[in-house]
Amino acid sequence: VGAEPGLGSRAGLVAREALSRLRERRRRAHRRYVTPEDAAASPGEVGLLVQVLMVARDRAWISVAAPRPLPHGGFDLSPWPGGAPAIARDRAPPSRAYRKLEEAFLWMGQAPGPGELCVDLGAAPGGWSAAALARGARVVAVDRAPLAPSLAGHPHLTLVRGSAFAFEPPRPADWLLTDVICEPERTVALIQRWVTRRWCRKVVASIKLKGRGGDRLLGEARAALEACGWGHVRIKHLHHNKNEVTVMMMAGERG
Ligand SMILES: C[S@@+](CC[C@H](N)C(=O)[O-])C[C@H]1O[C@@H](n2cnc3c(N)ncnc32)[C@H](O)[C@@H]1O
Repeated sequence: VGAEPGLGSRAGLVAREALSRLRERRRRAHRRYVTPEDAAASPGEVGLLVQVLMVARDRAWISVAAPRPLPHGGFDLSPWPGGAPAIARDRAPPSRAYRKLEEAFLWMGQAPGPGELCVDLGAAPGGWSAAALARGARVVAVDRAPLAPSLAGHPHLTLVRGSAFAFEPPRPADWLLTDVICEPERTVALIQRWVTRRWCRKVVASIKLKGRGGDRLLGEARAALEACGWGHVRIKHLHHNKNEVTVMMMAGERG
C-alpha cells in the first residue's frame, strides 16, 4: 500500500505504547502476552491474536481474533501475526518451494511421519521431496525433469521419470503432493482421480493461476473437490504462495 513515510517507525511506537499500557492497566492480560516471534514458533500458545495495521499516522485497522484448533488439526484462522508462519530457513533443499509445503503442513496441523509414503508429482528439482524425506517419509518423486544431484541415492527416494498425469501408484500412498505447473482444471482433475481411487489419504497441491478470473475458477475448484466427499478441504493463498493457491485435503468424516 502507498503508506505514508515514517509509518513503520510510528507503528513501532504504537506497539510499544500499547504494551506499556497493557502492563500498567491489565497486568493479568500482560502476563499472558506472547511476542509475535514466540507466537509464530508455537501457534498453539496463542489465545487471542491482536493485529494493528497502520494506514495513516492517525488511523489504523485493528483485528482481534481467537484462532481455534480444527477437529482434523490446524487452525481456522492464522495464529501467526500477519499470516506469516515461521518456516526455518534451510539451505539443504534444492529449491525454496519447500517453504510453501512446510506452511501447508502447519495449516493442516499434520505432516508426513517416518515411514509414511508420499508421492510427489512434478517433483523437480526436489524441494518438496527433500522436505518429506527430512521428516523420515519415503518418497516417490515423479517428473519429466531430473531431480537435483544432492538427492540422488537417498535410500528412501524412488525416482520416476515420466508424466505426472499418467503415473499410477503400485499401492496406495499416505500423501499426494503435487506442484505441477499446468492448467488449474488439470490439477483439480488430477486430485479428483487420486481421491476417488483412494490412492492417498492426504493432499497438498498447488493450483497455478494465470492472470485474473481466479475467484470463479477457485469457486469451481472448491465445489469439485468438496464433491469428492472428504472431511477437510481447504484452498488458501499461503504466505509463501506466488500466483498460485494451495489445496489441503484430508480423508475422514466432515466436521
Ligand atoms: C514448480 S516445479 C516443482 C518444484 C518442486 N515442488 C520443488 O519443490 O522443487 C514444477 C515441476 O512440474 C514438472 N512438470 C510439469 N508438467 C509435468 C508433467 N506433465 N509430468 C511431470 N512433471 C511435470 C516440471 O518439470 C517441474 O519440475
